[in-house]
Order: sequence, then structure tokens, then C-alpha cells
Amino acid sequence: SKGTYPYYMLKEIDEQPNVLRRLVSEYMNEDGSFNFDPKLIEALREADKLYIVAAGTSYHAGLVGKPIIEEVAKIPVEVELASEFGYHMPLLSKKPFFIYLTQSGETADSRQVLVKTNALGYPSLTITNVEASTLSREADYTILLHAGPEIAVASTKAYTAQITIEAMLAKALAVVNNVPGAEDFDLKYQLSLAANGMQTIVDAKADLEQLAHEFFANTRNAFYIGRGIDYWASLEASLKLKEVSYIQAEGFAAGELKHGTISLIENGTPVAAIITDKETASHTRGNVQEVEARGAKTLKIVSEDLAKPGDQIVVPTLDTVLSPLVSIVPTQLLAYYATLQRGYNVDQPRNLAKSVTVE
Ligand code: F6R
Repeated sequence: SKGTYPYYMLKEIDEQPNVLRRLVSEYMNEDGSFNFDPKLIEALREADKLYIVAAGTSYHAGLVGKPIIEEVAKIPVEVELASEFGYHMPLLSKKPFFIYLTQSGETADSRQVLVKTNALGYPSLTITNVEASTLSREADYTILLHAGPEIAVASTKAYTAQITIEAMLAKALAVVNNVPGAEDFDLKYQLSLAANGMQTIVDAKADLEQLAHEFFANTRNAFYIGRGIDYWASLEASLKLKEVSYIQAEGFAAGELKHGTISLIENGTPVAAIITDKETASHTRGNVQEVEARGAKTLKIVSEDLAKPGDQIVVPTLDTVLSPLVSIVPTQLLAYYATLQRGYNVDQPRNLAKSVTVE
């Protein structure tokens, strides 16, 4: 039930710190080992490349999983849209392993790929929130997201839970493979920072309600921009905003705007920049100035270590590859409040169903 919450979406956004803590207690042992099926870990070790297949928000969680797994476990990863991959399968590596990310476990687009990779005899893992769901039953292995039922059509807590599981798999593989530097990736500590950081953000939701009003209450379109990991978070931030508020929102690679799309910037166009990577922060800030010079109204979501006076939203600093765990939370709340301010039903946007069971 919604309890005292007006909408499921808000309840589910607020649940994220607890979901993250639950995942730590489910899967991480005191001695640093993980509660994953040892046969799964062996099968993943034998692979020369991991293929993450998913749709929508789960695809966006997969995009974040790639740099986490590549950086921490040093295993190459491809991330594929299920609705494309099944029909245009690329030349696969010699020993592929397929990871299906799916909150519902019922997405037809993802399932049709699983049916094909099963027929080809490739090993598979489904990471899902729903025990005994179709994709869970049909894959070789399952890891549960333990996020609790996600009822709002817009996915929120499943996204952060999926990123958390990807990080745990990355760390588990790094440990068994003795990847040099694996011990420097202190995942338990990072996840406790993330859970506390999420809590701080959801506790300050009144500020986000105000910012939503200022930036999104009356606009027709909007942009989220970022580079690298912040670009992947921008894609999810813009999907959240557009699917519930009906604002035409684009997530864009910050450096790519000037190659065409910047012509859409007009007086008052809202552009939100996500800045959590110190390698690219100054370049993204440069892109913010470029759009400001063309009249954009800019909103900056910045990690604490990179924050400057005037940045409206500051999120805690995490290991850069994990930063979407916290940078996404204000964008979920901005989408939520903008939708209420515009007078729509945030839990049930038009034209959408919670699980998409047709291809
Ligand atoms: C967006 C959303 C959808 C789903 C997508 C995949 O908020 O909910 O984009 O993420 O339909 O669904 P699952 O994860 O159930 O396979």
C-alpha cells in the first residue's frame, strides 16, 4: 500500500536508501565474500565478454553497469537494447555470457533475445525484482533485486537496485580474479555513503519541489546533459521527466550539443547538467556556459567535491562509476514534482503499462 504517501512513485523514490541497505545485507558477507551462486561466478569468469540486454530504465542501468564492470573487474561489456539486439545480433565474442536486466522479468523484447541465446546454448543470468518471473525461469541463473514491489509505472528503485547488483558482481569477479587494485574499490563503504546520500537528498525534497517549479512547471522541452557516467545518468533523468510530465526531454552528451542540437536552445530552455566526474567537469561547465550564452536556464547537479557557488543541487561524492546512485535521485524527484505541478497522474502516465509484454 501507499501508506501515508500520495503516490507510489514518491514512496518508491524514498525507499531507495533502504533497498540499498537490504541488498548489502542480502549479498555481502562480513568477511568480504558475496552470497552469489558460486556456479554463476564460475560461469561469468569463463566468459570473454558480457552482454547486458534490457529495455528502458533497465537499459540505462545496464549502460552504467558497463563502466563499473569494465573498470573494477576488467571484463569487456556490451550493452544492448533488447528490441534491437534480437533482430540484428552482432558478431558475438567466442565465449559470450548474457545478462538480462528486467525489473518485471516479463518484458517481451528482452525475452525474445533470451529465447534466441538459449537456442544458441549461451549461458545467462536474469537480474530481476520478481521471483519466478518468465525471464527468471528461462535463464540459467537469477539474482533478485529485493526492491519490493514497484507499482508506479516509472521505474525508480529498480534502477538504483540494478546498478548496486552490477557493482556487487563487478567486485565479486574482481576478487576471484585477483584483479590488481580490486581492494581499492571499497564497495561496502561506497554503498553506505550512497544510502546515506540518498537519504539526505530525499529529506531535502522541498528544495526539489521548488526547483521543479522554477525549471519545469511551464516548459515544452528540456535537456539533461553530461559526459561519460553523467551522460548515462542524463539519459535516465530525461526518460523519467518525459514519461511522467510529458515534457519533451532529451538526455544528451554534453560535448555533442554543439554538433547540431544546440540549435534547439532558445531563451528560457531548461538545461540540467549532471557533473560528478572530475575528468570532464570543466568541459561540461564550458558546455553549460555555451547554452547559457544562447538563453538557456541552467540547473547544475554536482558532486560535493566539484561543487561551486551557485550550483543548485549538490550530491555526495562517490567513486565516479557509482555516482548515478545518488545523482539520479534529485532527477526522479524533479520529474515527480514537475508532473504534479502540471496536473498529471504521476503513477499512471498515458499510453504506458507497467510491464510491456508485446514486442
Ligand atoms: C521506465 C520504465 C520502462 C521499463 C522498461 C523495461 O520508467 O519503467 O522503461 O524500464 O519497460 O522493463 P523491465 O525492467 O520490467 O524489463
